[in-house]
Amino acid sequence: MTDLVTVSDEGPVRIVRMNRPEKKNALTMAMYDAMADAIETAGNSGVRCLLIAGHPSAFCAGNDIGDFLAAASQGGALGAPILRFLYALARCELPLVAAVRGNAIGVGTTLLLHCDHVVAAHDARFATPFVGLGLVPEAASSLIAPRLMGQAHAFSLLVMGRPLAADEAKAAGLVNTVVASDAVEAEAMKAAAEIAALPPQGVLASRRLMRGAPDEIIARIDQEAEQFKTRLQSTEAQAAFTAFMMRKRS
Ligand code: COA
Repeated sequence: MTDLVTVSDEGPVRIVRMNRPEKKNALTMAMYDAMADAIETAGNSGVRCLLIAGHPSAFCAGNDIGDFLAAASQGGALGAPILRFLYALARCELPLVAAVRGNAIGVGTTLLLHCDHVVAAHDARFATPFVGLGLVPEAASSLIAPRLMGQAHAFSLLVMGRPLAADEAKAAGLVNTVVASDAVEAEAMKAAAEIAALPPQGVLASRRLMRGAPDEIIARIDQEAEQFKTRLQSTEAQAAFTAFMMRKRS
């Protein structure tokens, strides 16, 4: 079976690539674990920067909705691999770069709030349809997004579920650079190599100063996960998941 996440080190840059294009890179538990592994072990491997990438057809369609349905019938807790991945993002000391082509949905967008430099394609689209699915925002997005883009923009994205086009995401501070789809990977790699070439201790110390301790972020991830558990089991959420899974059968 093809690896659903590939991890490769190109010099000091670790590329973590979601690789489930037939499902638009919807994330499974095994994928969360593989991505958490790649982030957690990077610090001890001589890596200086991580680059998170997807496929030309999709960056990430969010959590696998079939897994959400299964979780709802088993008490509703977010799977341990999801929390492990979110904690790994929040605790990561190394700079995170992302290369986004196509859709970035749900956690595909909220993971970007933990990144330091995001390159997006002109056709990239960012959406967090949590509330429409009967859920609440996750990955500490309820804390980070209003700080980054202001309450009004964050409400439109996180609660109203209005998507952002690439230029809008740049204006909101989520994206650094917008380029043609076939230039995204090279541009992101260029940024990652640029960061990796800086004095590493200076980068780590500066990043720590800018981000502060991760405790507040971790606490918000936990608070959101509590709410998520209740919401996952709600009739609203189960109806929305079932409608998505059945939509091609009618
Ligand atoms: N969970 C499970 N399967 C998913 C998925 C998800 N989050 N996102 C896409 N897929 C699957 C589709 O069911 C489809 O499977 P099939 O070929 O067996 O029918 C396949 O991936 C391709 O998706 P499709 O919808 O046909 O592609 P598209 O290009 O028309 O649309 C998206 C792409 C991402 C816009 C659309 O799939 C979508 O909205 N996905 C759900 C996103 C979402 O709500 N995520 C949860 C956020 S909390």
